[in-house]
Amino acid sequence: MGTAEVTRHAPSRREFLQRSGQAGLSAVALSLGGGALLSRPGAAQSRGVREIHLEARELEWELAPGKAIKAMAYNGRIPGPELRVTEGERVRIVLKNGLAEPTTIHWHGVDVPNAMDGVPGVTQKPVPPGETFVYEFEARPAGTRWYHTHFAEHRQLDLGLYAPFIIEPARAEPFAFDREHTLVFDDWATGTGRPLSSTREGTAGGRGGLGGMMGGGMGRTMEGMMGRGGMGGMRRGDRTPDYDTLTINGKAYPATAPITVHEGERVRLRLINASADHTHVIRLAGHRLQVTHTDGNALTQPVDVEAVPLAPSERYDVRFVADRPGAWFLSCAEPGHPGAGEQVLVVYEGHEGRKPDAPVEGVSGVDLWQYGLGRGRDVLPRTSGQERTFDLVLSGGMMGSDAWTINGKQYPRTDPLRVRKGDRVRVRLENHSMEAHPMHLHGQSFKVLAVNGARHAQPLVKDSVDVDAHMGSVVLEFTAHNPGDWFFHCHKPMHMEGGMITLAKIA
Ligand code: C2O
Ligand code: CU
Repeated sequence: MGTAEVTRHAPSRREFLQRSGQAGLSAVALSLGGGALLSRPGAAQSRGVREIHLEARELEWELAPGKAIKAMAYNGRIPGPELRVTEGERVRIVLKNGLAEPTTIHWHGVDVPNAMDGVPGVTQKPVPPGETFVYEFEARPAGTRWYHTHFAEHRQLDLGLYAPFIIEPARAEPFAFDREHTLVFDDWATGTGRPLSSTREGTAGGRGGLGGMMGGGMGRTMEGMMGRGGMGGMRRGDRTPDYDTLTINGKAYPATAPITVHEGERVRLRLINASADHTHVIRLAGHRLQVTHTDGNALTQPVDVEAVPLAPSERYDVRFVADRPGAWFLSCAEPGHPGAGEQVLVVYEGHEGRKPDAPVEGVSGVDLWQYGLGRGRDVLPRTSGQERTFDLVLSGGMMGSDAWTINGKQYPRTDPLRVRKGDRVRVRLENHSMEAHPMHLHGQSFKVLAVNGARHAQPLVKDSVDVDAHMGSVVLEFTAHNPGDWFFHCHKPMHMEGGMITLAKIA
Protein backbone atom coordinates (compact mmCIF):
# COMPACT_ATOMS: atom_id res chain seq x y z
CA MET A 1 0.00 0.00 0.00
CA GLY A 2 2.05 2.94 -1.22
CA THR A 3 1.56 6.53 -0.32
CA ALA A 4 0.74 7.41 -3.89
CA GLU A 5 -2.66 5.81 -3.60
CA VAL A 6 -5.44 8.17 -4.48
CA THR A 7 -8.84 8.07 -2.94
CA ARG A 8 -11.83 6.88 -4.82
CA HIS A 9 -14.59 8.19 -2.59
CA ALA A 10 -17.61 6.38 -3.91
CA PRO A 11 -19.64 9.55 -4.38
CA SER A 12 -18.93 10.97 -0.98
CA ARG A 13 -21.94 11.45 1.20
CA ARG A 14 -21.14 15.09 1.20
CA GLU A 15 -21.33 15.35 -2.56
CA PHE A 16 -24.43 13.23 -2.49
CA LEU A 17 -26.12 15.49 0.01
CA GLN A 18 -25.08 18.56 -1.88
CA ARG A 19 -26.59 17.13 -5.02
CA SER A 20 -29.76 16.08 -3.29
CA GLY A 21 -30.34 19.60 -2.10
CA GLN A 22 -30.04 19.09 1.62
CA ALA A 23 -27.86 22.13 1.84
CA GLY A 24 -30.85 24.28 2.57
CA LEU A 25 -31.04 22.95 6.09
CA SER A 26 -29.30 25.27 8.44
CA ALA A 27 -26.87 23.62 10.78
CA VAL A 28 -28.89 20.49 11.00
CA ALA A 29 -27.33 17.16 11.65
CA LEU A 30 -28.47 14.61 9.17
CA SER A 31 -28.45 11.03 10.19
CA LEU A 32 -26.51 8.85 7.83
CA GLY A 33 -25.81 5.17 7.65
CA GLY A 34 -24.01 3.64 10.59
CA GLY A 35 -24.88 6.41 12.96
CA ALA A 36 -22.53 8.86 11.29
CA LEU A 37 -23.67 12.41 11.17
CA LEU A 38 -22.94 15.24 8.90
CA SER A 39 -23.64 18.85 9.44
CA ARG A 40 -24.95 20.76 6.49
CA PRO A 41 -24.91 24.33 7.57
CA GLY A 42 -25.38 25.29 3.95
CA ALA A 43 -27.66 28.27 4.31
CA ALA A 44 -25.10 30.14 6.31
CA GLN A 45 -22.17 29.81 3.94
CA SER A 46 -21.33 33.42 3.28
CA ARG A 47 -18.10 35.01 2.14
CA GLY A 48 -16.34 31.70 2.40
CA VAL A 49 -17.12 31.23 6.07
CA ARG A 50 -19.01 28.13 7.04
CA GLU A 51 -21.37 28.94 9.89
CA ILE A 52 -22.50 26.21 12.22
CA HIS A 53 -24.96 26.53 15.08
CA LEU A 54 -24.65 24.38 18.16
CA GLU A 55 -26.77 24.44 21.25
CA ALA A 56 -25.80 22.67 24.45
CA ARG A 57 -28.83 21.49 26.33
CA GLU A 58 -29.87 18.98 28.94
CA LEU A 59 -31.98 16.15 27.73
CA GLU A 60 -33.17 12.70 28.55
CA TRP A 61 -31.13 10.23 26.52
CA GLU A 62 -31.87 6.59 25.99
CA LEU A 63 -28.60 4.63 26.09
CA ALA A 64 -30.51 1.42 25.49
CA PRO A 65 -34.16 0.41 25.76
CA GLY A 66 -35.23 1.03 29.33
CA LYS A 67 -32.01 2.86 30.14
CA ALA A 68 -32.84 6.54 29.88
CA ILE A 69 -30.63 8.97 31.73
CA LYS A 70 -30.37 12.69 32.24
CA ALA A 71 -27.64 13.82 29.88
CA MET A 72 -26.25 16.86 28.05
CA ALA A 73 -25.97 17.14 24.30
CA TYR A 74 -25.19 19.39 21.35
CA ASN A 75 -28.24 19.82 19.10
CA GLY A 76 -30.20 17.17 20.91
CA ARG A 77 -28.09 14.12 20.21
CA ILE A 78 -25.16 12.14 21.53
CA PRO A 79 -22.63 12.39 20.06
CA GLY A 80 -23.43 15.88 18.82
CA PRO A 81 -23.47 16.56 15.07
CA GLU A 82 -20.42 15.36 13.21
CA LEU A 83 -18.94 18.47 11.62
CA ARG A 84 -17.17 17.97 8.33
CA VAL A 85 -15.11 20.71 6.84
CA THR A 86 -12.21 21.00 4.43
CA GLU A 87 -8.69 21.73 5.54
CA GLY A 88 -8.10 25.47 5.45
CA GLU A 89 -11.81 26.28 5.39
CA ARG A 90 -12.91 29.10 7.66
CA VAL A 91 -15.53 27.97 10.16
CA ARG A 92 -17.65 29.99 12.52
CA ILE A 93 -19.39 28.06 15.24
CA VAL A 94 -22.08 29.84 17.17
CA LEU A 95 -22.48 28.11 20.51
CA LYS A 96 -25.64 28.77 22.44
CA ASN A 97 -25.56 27.69 26.03
CA GLY A 98 -28.94 26.21 26.82
CA LEU A 99 -27.65 24.56 30.01
CA ALA A 100 -28.32 25.75 33.53
CA GLU A 101 -24.55 26.16 34.05
CA PRO A 102 -21.62 27.70 32.16
CA THR A 103 -19.90 25.85 29.32
CA THR A 104 -17.27 26.20 26.55
CA ILE A 105 -16.12 24.16 23.55
CA HIS A 106 -12.60 22.91 22.93
CA TRP A 107 -11.57 21.87 19.39
CA HIS A 108 -9.43 18.88 20.24
CA GLY A 109 -6.54 18.39 17.83
CA VAL A 110 -7.23 21.56 15.85
CA ASP A 111 -4.55 24.28 15.71
CA VAL A 112 -6.94 27.12 16.56
CA PRO A 113 -5.84 30.62 17.64
CA ASN A 114 -5.47 30.67 21.41
CA ALA A 115 -8.60 32.74 22.06
CA MET A 116 -10.70 30.06 20.30
CA ASP A 117 -9.35 27.16 22.35
CA GLY A 118 -12.25 27.00 24.79
CA VAL A 119 -10.42 26.75 28.10
CA PRO A 120 -12.39 28.68 30.72
CA GLY A 121 -10.29 31.01 32.81
CA VAL A 122 -7.33 30.67 30.44
CA THR A 123 -8.44 31.49 26.90
CA GLN A 124 -11.98 32.76 27.49
CA LYS A 125 -14.62 33.44 30.10
CA PRO A 126 -17.06 30.58 30.51
CA VAL A 127 -20.23 31.11 28.49
CA PRO A 128 -23.04 31.78 31.00
CA PRO A 129 -26.41 30.03 30.72
CA GLY A 130 -28.56 31.54 28.00
CA GLU A 131 -25.66 33.29 26.27
CA THR A 132 -23.79 32.60 23.07
CA PHE A 133 -20.14 32.55 22.10
CA VAL A 134 -18.73 32.58 18.59
CA TYR A 135 -15.74 30.43 17.73
CA GLU A 136 -14.03 31.20 14.45
CA PHE A 137 -10.92 29.65 12.96
CA GLU A 138 -9.37 28.00 9.95
CA ALA A 139 -9.79 24.26 10.13
CA ARG A 140 -6.40 22.56 10.21
CA PRO A 141 -4.66 20.19 10.20
CA ALA A 142 -6.66 17.60 8.28
CA GLY A 143 -7.81 14.51 10.12
CA THR A 144 -10.14 12.97 12.66
CA ARG A 145 -10.48 15.64 15.32
CA TRP A 146 -13.28 16.16 17.82
CA TYR A 147 -14.92 18.82 19.90
CA HIS A 148 -16.12 18.73 23.45
CA THR A 149 -16.95 20.85 26.46
CA HIS A 150 -14.01 22.09 28.50
CA PHE A 151 -16.02 23.23 31.49
CA ALA A 152 -16.37 20.83 34.42
CA GLU A 153 -15.50 17.96 32.10
CA HIS A 154 -15.90 15.43 34.88
CA ARG A 155 -19.60 16.20 34.58
CA GLN A 156 -20.29 17.77 31.18
CA LEU A 157 -18.06 15.55 29.04
CA ASP A 158 -19.25 12.58 31.01
CA LEU A 159 -22.85 13.48 30.26
CA GLY A 160 -22.48 13.65 26.49
CA LEU A 161 -21.09 17.03 25.31
CA TYR A 162 -18.78 15.74 22.59
CA ALA A 163 -18.81 15.04 18.84
CA PRO A 164 -16.54 14.30 15.87
CA PHE A 165 -14.91 17.14 13.95
CA ILE A 166 -13.64 15.80 10.66
CA ILE A 167 -11.27 17.92 8.61
CA GLU A 168 -10.98 16.47 5.12
CA PRO A 169 -7.64 17.05 3.44
CA ALA A 170 -7.51 19.81 0.85
CA ARG A 171 -5.55 17.40 -1.33
CA ALA A 172 -6.18 13.70 -1.96
CA GLU A 173 -6.59 11.29 0.94
CA PRO A 174 -3.38 9.34 1.44
CA PHE A 175 -5.13 5.97 1.72
CA ALA A 176 -7.99 4.96 -0.51
CA PHE A 177 -11.34 3.83 0.85
CA ASP A 178 -14.82 3.28 -0.50
CA ARG A 179 -16.95 3.94 2.56
CA GLU A 180 -16.43 5.37 5.99
CA HIS A 181 -18.04 5.38 9.40
CA THR A 182 -17.23 7.31 12.55
CA LEU A 183 -17.50 5.47 15.85
CA VAL A 184 -17.33 7.32 19.17
CA PHE A 185 -16.87 5.27 22.33
CA ASP A 186 -17.99 6.45 25.76
CA ASP A 187 -18.38 5.23 29.32
CA TRP A 188 -21.40 6.03 31.48
CA ALA A 189 -22.23 5.78 35.16
CA THR A 190 -25.94 5.06 35.27
CA GLY A 191 -26.09 3.34 38.62
CA THR A 192 -28.01 0.50 37.00
CA GLY A 193 -25.31 -2.01 36.16
CA ARG A 194 -22.24 -3.73 37.53
CA PRO A 195 -19.32 -1.32 37.74
CA LEU A 196 -16.60 -2.04 35.20
CA SER A 197 -13.01 -2.36 36.24
CA SER A 198 -10.95 0.67 35.40
CA THR A 199 -8.16 0.72 32.83
CA ARG A 200 -5.06 1.66 34.66
CA GLU A 201 -1.95 0.23 33.13
CA GLY A 202 -1.79 1.96 29.77
CA THR A 203 -1.45 0.93 26.19
CA ALA A 204 1.74 2.50 24.88
CA GLY A 205 3.42 -0.89 24.61
CA GLY A 206 7.02 -1.83 24.04
CA ARG A 207 7.73 -3.12 27.51
CA GLY A 208 7.87 -6.75 26.52
CA GLY A 209 5.74 -8.08 29.30
CA LEU A 210 4.30 -6.72 32.48
CA GLY A 211 2.74 -3.34 32.42
CA GLY A 212 2.30 -2.75 28.72
CA MET A 213 0.22 -4.54 26.18
CA MET A 214 3.04 -6.73 24.93
CA GLY A 215 3.52 -10.40 25.56
CA GLY A 216 -0.13 -11.25 25.19
CA GLY A 217 -1.20 -8.11 26.94
CA MET A 218 -0.74 -9.36 30.47
CA GLY A 219 -0.55 -6.19 32.55
CA ARG A 220 -3.79 -4.62 31.55
CA THR A 221 -5.93 -7.69 31.19
CA MET A 222 -4.86 -8.84 34.59
CA GLU A 223 -6.53 -5.76 35.91
CA GLY A 224 -9.61 -6.70 33.96
CA MET A 225 -9.66 -10.25 35.29
CA MET A 226 -9.02 -9.27 38.84
CA GLY A 227 -11.69 -6.66 38.77
CA ARG A 228 -11.68 -3.35 40.39
CA GLY A 229 -9.89 -4.29 43.55
CA GLY A 230 -7.02 -5.51 41.35
CA MET A 231 -3.79 -4.00 42.56
CA GLY A 232 -3.63 -5.49 46.00
CA GLY A 233 -6.99 -4.04 46.86
CA MET A 234 -5.87 -0.47 46.37
CA ARG A 235 -8.88 1.76 46.30
CA ARG A 236 -9.53 4.41 43.76
CA GLY A 237 -10.45 7.93 44.64
CA ASP A 238 -13.85 8.11 46.22
CA ARG A 239 -15.24 10.47 43.64
CA THR A 240 -14.56 8.39 40.54
CA PRO A 241 -17.95 7.40 39.16
CA ASP A 242 -18.89 3.74 38.88
CA TYR A 243 -18.98 3.35 35.13
CA ASP A 244 -21.33 0.51 34.20
CA THR A 245 -22.47 1.16 30.62
CA LEU A 246 -20.50 1.61 27.41
CA THR A 247 -21.77 3.16 24.21
CA ILE A 248 -20.86 3.37 20.55
CA ASN A 249 -22.28 6.55 19.02
CA GLY A 250 -24.40 7.14 22.09
CA LYS A 251 -26.03 3.72 22.24
CA ALA A 252 -25.30 0.55 24.17
CA TYR A 253 -25.79 -2.84 22.52
CA PRO A 254 -28.39 -4.03 21.51
CA ALA A 255 -29.31 -0.42 20.71
CA THR A 256 -26.12 0.23 18.70
CA ALA A 257 -26.92 1.02 15.06
CA PRO A 258 -25.66 -1.80 12.77
CA ILE A 259 -23.01 -0.92 10.20
CA THR A 260 -23.70 -2.07 6.66
CA VAL A 261 -20.84 -2.90 4.31
CA HIS A 262 -20.65 -4.25 0.79
CA GLU A 263 -18.42 -7.10 -0.23
CA GLY A 264 -15.16 -5.95 -1.79
CA GLU A 265 -15.20 -2.47 -0.29
CA ARG A 266 -12.40 -0.89 1.67
CA VAL A 267 -14.08 0.51 4.74
CA ARG A 268 -12.55 3.28 6.79
CA LEU A 269 -13.47 3.60 10.43
CA ARG A 270 -12.73 6.72 12.41
CA LEU A 271 -12.47 5.61 16.02
CA ILE A 272 -12.73 8.23 18.76
CA ASN A 273 -12.52 7.49 22.48
CA ALA A 274 -14.58 10.07 24.36
CA SER A 275 -14.51 8.01 27.57
CA ALA A 276 -13.56 9.55 30.87
CA ASP A 277 -11.87 6.55 32.36
CA HIS A 278 -11.66 3.59 30.02
CA THR A 279 -9.33 2.39 27.32
CA HIS A 280 -11.04 0.32 24.64
CA VAL A 281 -9.42 -2.35 22.53
CA ILE A 282 -11.36 -2.35 19.29
CA ARG A 283 -11.50 -5.37 17.02
CA LEU A 284 -13.69 -6.64 14.24
CA ALA A 285 -14.29 -10.37 14.27
CA GLY A 286 -13.16 -12.11 11.10
CA HIS A 287 -11.15 -9.15 9.84
CA ARG A 288 -7.81 -7.51 10.39
CA LEU A 289 -7.56 -3.78 10.80
CA GLN A 290 -5.07 -1.52 9.08
CA VAL A 291 -4.17 1.49 11.18
CA THR A 292 -3.77 4.48 8.84
CA HIS A 293 -3.89 7.55 11.12
CA THR A 294 -2.95 8.32 14.73
CA ASP A 295 -5.02 11.14 16.28
CA GLY A 296 -5.93 12.13 12.73
CA ASN A 297 -2.40 12.19 11.33
CA ALA A 298 -1.55 9.85 8.45
CA LEU A 299 1.14 7.21 8.85
CA THR A 300 3.60 6.60 6.03
CA GLN A 301 2.00 3.18 5.53
CA PRO A 302 -0.93 1.31 7.07
CA VAL A 303 -0.08 -1.07 9.93
CA ASP A 304 -1.91 -4.37 9.99
CA VAL A 305 -3.16 -5.54 13.43
CA GLU A 306 -6.00 -7.48 15.02
CA ALA A 307 -7.07 -4.91 17.57
CA VAL A 308 -6.44 -1.28 18.41
CA PRO A 309 -6.33 0.05 21.98
CA LEU A 310 -7.58 3.62 22.37
CA ALA A 311 -6.88 5.55 25.55
CA PRO A 312 -9.29 8.35 26.50
CA SER A 313 -9.18 11.16 23.89
CA GLU A 314 -7.16 9.13 21.36
CA ARG A 315 -8.35 8.59 17.80
CA TYR A 316 -7.32 6.05 15.24
CA ASP A 317 -8.41 5.71 11.66
CA VAL A 318 -8.42 2.11 10.57
CA ARG A 319 -9.37 0.42 7.35
CA PHE A 320 -10.51 -3.09 6.59
CA VAL A 321 -11.27 -4.97 3.44
CA ALA A 322 -14.80 -6.37 3.39
CA ASP A 323 -13.85 -9.80 2.11
CA ARG A 324 -15.71 -12.14 4.48
CA PRO A 325 -19.42 -11.86 3.77
CA GLY A 326 -21.67 -12.42 6.74
CA ALA A 327 -22.39 -10.65 10.00
CA TRP A 328 -19.71 -9.89 12.57
CA PHE A 329 -19.32 -8.02 15.80
CA LEU A 330 -17.10 -5.00 16.11
CA SER A 331 -16.43 -4.86 19.83
CA CYS A 332 -14.03 -4.10 22.63
CA ALA A 333 -11.75 -6.92 23.72
CA GLU A 334 -11.54 -5.62 27.29
CA PRO A 335 -13.24 -8.20 29.53
CA GLY A 336 -16.72 -7.05 30.49
CA HIS A 337 -16.93 -4.29 27.90
CA PRO A 338 -19.05 -6.02 25.23
CA GLY A 339 -21.54 -7.03 27.92
CA ALA A 340 -21.71 -3.42 29.09
CA GLY A 341 -22.84 -2.40 25.61
CA GLU A 342 -19.65 -2.02 23.59
CA GLN A 343 -20.48 -4.07 20.53
CA VAL A 344 -22.06 -3.31 17.19
CA LEU A 345 -23.08 -5.50 14.27
CA VAL A 346 -21.22 -5.19 11.01
CA VAL A 347 -23.47 -6.70 8.37
CA TYR A 348 -22.65 -7.34 4.73
CA GLU A 349 -25.39 -6.34 2.37
CA GLY A 350 -27.50 -9.38 1.65
CA HIS A 351 -26.64 -10.99 4.99
CA GLU A 352 -29.10 -9.11 7.15
CA GLY A 353 -30.62 -11.19 9.90
CA ARG A 354 -27.52 -13.36 10.32
CA LYS A 355 -26.55 -13.88 13.93
CA PRO A 356 -22.81 -13.64 14.51
CA ASP A 357 -20.78 -15.35 17.21
CA ALA A 358 -20.54 -13.51 20.52
CA PRO A 359 -17.56 -11.16 20.78
CA VAL A 360 -14.32 -12.67 22.05
CA GLU A 361 -13.01 -11.03 25.21
CA GLY A 362 -9.40 -10.77 26.32
CA VAL A 363 -6.31 -9.81 24.38
CA SER A 364 -4.13 -12.79 25.10
CA GLY A 365 -2.39 -13.76 21.87
CA VAL A 366 -4.04 -10.89 20.02
CA ASP A 367 -1.89 -8.91 17.69
CA LEU A 368 -2.34 -5.42 19.13
CA TRP A 369 -1.47 -1.98 17.84
CA GLN A 370 1.14 -0.17 19.88
CA TYR A 371 2.96 3.10 19.30
CA GLY A 372 6.21 1.43 18.26
CA LEU A 373 4.59 -0.20 15.22
CA GLY A 374 3.76 2.99 13.33
CA ARG A 375 5.88 5.27 11.17
CA GLY A 376 4.73 8.86 11.21
CA ARG A 377 5.12 11.51 8.56
CA ASP A 378 7.30 14.49 9.26
CA VAL A 379 4.53 17.09 9.09
CA LEU A 380 5.25 19.44 11.98
CA PRO A 381 6.39 23.00 11.22
CA ARG A 382 10.15 23.60 11.13
CA THR A 383 11.73 24.93 14.28
CA SER A 384 13.56 28.23 14.18
CA GLY A 385 14.39 28.87 17.81
CA GLN A 386 16.05 27.14 20.71
CA GLU A 387 15.86 23.61 21.92
CA ARG A 388 14.08 23.37 25.26
CA THR A 389 13.66 20.28 27.41
CA PHE A 390 11.28 19.76 30.31
CA ASP A 391 11.05 16.82 32.67
CA LEU A 392 7.62 16.13 34.08
CA VAL A 393 6.91 13.48 36.69
CA LEU A 394 3.28 12.41 36.82
CA SER A 395 2.09 11.12 40.15
CA GLY A 396 -0.74 11.04 42.62
CA GLY A 397 -3.72 8.88 43.40
CA MET A 398 -1.95 7.29 46.35
CA MET A 399 -4.12 5.48 48.88
CA GLY A 400 -7.25 6.33 46.95
CA SER A 401 -6.50 10.04 46.94
CA ASP A 402 -8.03 12.23 44.25
CA ALA A 403 -4.93 14.44 44.04
CA TRP A 404 -2.94 14.12 40.80
CA THR A 405 0.29 16.01 40.31
CA ILE A 406 2.93 17.15 37.84
CA ASN A 407 6.33 17.47 39.52
CA GLY A 408 4.56 17.23 42.85
CA LYS A 409 2.22 20.15 42.21
CA GLN A 410 -1.45 20.44 41.44
CA TYR A 411 -2.80 22.92 38.91
CA PRO A 412 -2.89 25.93 39.14
CA ARG A 413 0.34 25.64 41.16
CA THR A 414 2.11 23.55 38.50
CA ASP A 415 5.08 25.20 36.74
CA PRO A 416 4.27 26.23 33.16
CA LEU A 417 6.53 25.32 30.24
CA ARG A 418 7.72 28.77 29.14
CA VAL A 419 8.99 28.80 25.59
CA ARG A 420 9.22 31.07 22.57
CA LYS A 421 7.54 30.75 19.24
CA GLY A 422 9.64 28.56 16.95
CA ASP A 423 11.33 26.64 19.77
CA ARG A 424 11.78 22.91 19.56
CA VAL A 425 10.22 21.73 22.81
CA ARG A 426 10.98 18.33 24.19
CA VAL A 427 8.95 17.00 27.11
CA ARG A 428 10.06 13.90 29.00
CA LEU A 429 7.17 12.38 30.90
CA GLU A 430 7.61 9.79 33.57
CA ASN A 431 4.68 8.16 35.30
CA HIS A 432 5.25 7.35 38.96
CA SER A 433 1.62 6.51 39.61
CA MET A 434 -0.44 3.34 39.39
CA GLU A 435 -2.66 4.58 36.56
CA ALA A 436 -1.95 5.48 32.95
CA HIS A 437 -2.32 9.11 31.94
CA PRO A 438 -3.41 10.05 28.42
CA MET A 439 -1.66 13.43 28.20
CA HIS A 440 -3.09 15.93 25.71
CA LEU A 441 -1.50 19.13 24.43
CA HIS A 442 -3.71 21.91 23.10
CA GLY A 443 -2.95 24.06 20.06
CA GLN A 444 -0.36 21.89 18.31
CA SER A 445 0.42 18.26 17.71
CA PHE A 446 3.65 16.57 18.75
CA LYS A 447 5.93 13.74 17.74
CA VAL A 448 6.23 10.71 19.98
CA LEU A 449 10.01 10.33 20.05
CA ALA A 450 10.31 7.51 22.56
CA VAL A 451 8.10 5.23 24.61
CA ASN A 452 9.21 3.29 27.67
CA GLY A 453 12.85 3.82 26.74
CA ALA A 454 12.55 2.74 23.12
CA ARG A 455 13.26 5.45 20.55
CA HIS A 456 11.09 5.67 17.47
CA ALA A 457 12.95 6.40 14.25
CA GLN A 458 9.98 7.89 12.39
CA PRO A 459 7.89 9.28 15.23
CA LEU A 460 4.11 9.17 15.21
CA VAL A 461 2.31 12.50 15.20
CA LYS A 462 -0.36 12.75 17.89
CA ASP A 463 -2.00 15.19 20.28
CA SER A 464 -2.72 12.71 23.07
CA VAL A 465 -0.27 10.12 24.32
CA ASP A 466 -0.92 7.45 26.91
CA VAL A 467 1.86 7.27 29.50
CA ASP A 468 1.86 3.77 31.00
CA ALA A 469 1.43 3.27 34.73
CA HIS A 470 4.29 2.08 36.95
CA MET A 471 7.24 4.04 35.57
CA GLY A 472 6.05 4.24 32.00
CA SER A 473 7.70 7.03 30.06
CA VAL A 474 7.20 9.07 26.91
CA VAL A 475 9.40 11.64 25.23
CA LEU A 476 7.48 13.98 22.99
CA GLU A 477 8.55 16.94 20.93
CA PHE A 478 6.67 19.78 19.34
CA THR A 479 7.37 22.95 17.42
CA ALA A 480 5.99 25.82 19.46
CA HIS A 481 4.36 27.39 16.41
CA ASN A 482 1.09 28.54 17.90
CA PRO A 483 1.48 31.42 20.38
CA GLY A 484 -0.59 31.55 23.55
CA ASP A 485 -1.28 29.71 26.79
CA TRP A 486 -2.08 26.10 26.05
CA PHE A 487 -3.40 23.47 28.40
CA PHE A 488 -1.34 20.30 28.67
CA HIS A 489 -3.19 17.78 30.79
CA CYS A 490 -4.33 14.27 31.48
CA HIS A 491 -7.55 13.63 29.58
CA LYS A 492 -9.18 11.66 32.39
CA PRO A 493 -11.48 14.35 33.78
CA MET A 494 -11.10 13.14 37.35
CA HIS A 495 -7.34 13.49 37.02
CA MET A 496 -7.76 17.00 35.63
CA GLU A 497 -10.00 17.79 38.55
CA GLY A 498 -7.27 16.42 40.78
CA GLY A 499 -4.68 18.81 39.35
CA MET A 500 -2.83 17.00 36.55
CA ILE A 501 -2.66 20.03 34.28
CA THR A 502 0.04 22.45 33.29
CA LEU A 503 0.39 25.17 30.67
CA ALA A 504 2.67 25.50 27.69
CA LYS A 505 3.17 29.26 27.48
CA ILE A 506 4.36 30.16 24.01
CA ALA A 507 5.43 33.78 23.76
CU1 C2O B 1 -9.83 17.01 24.62
CU2 C2O B 1 -8.15 19.85 27.15
O1 C2O B 1 -9.02 18.43 25.89
CU1 CU C 1 -4.42 10.81 34.39
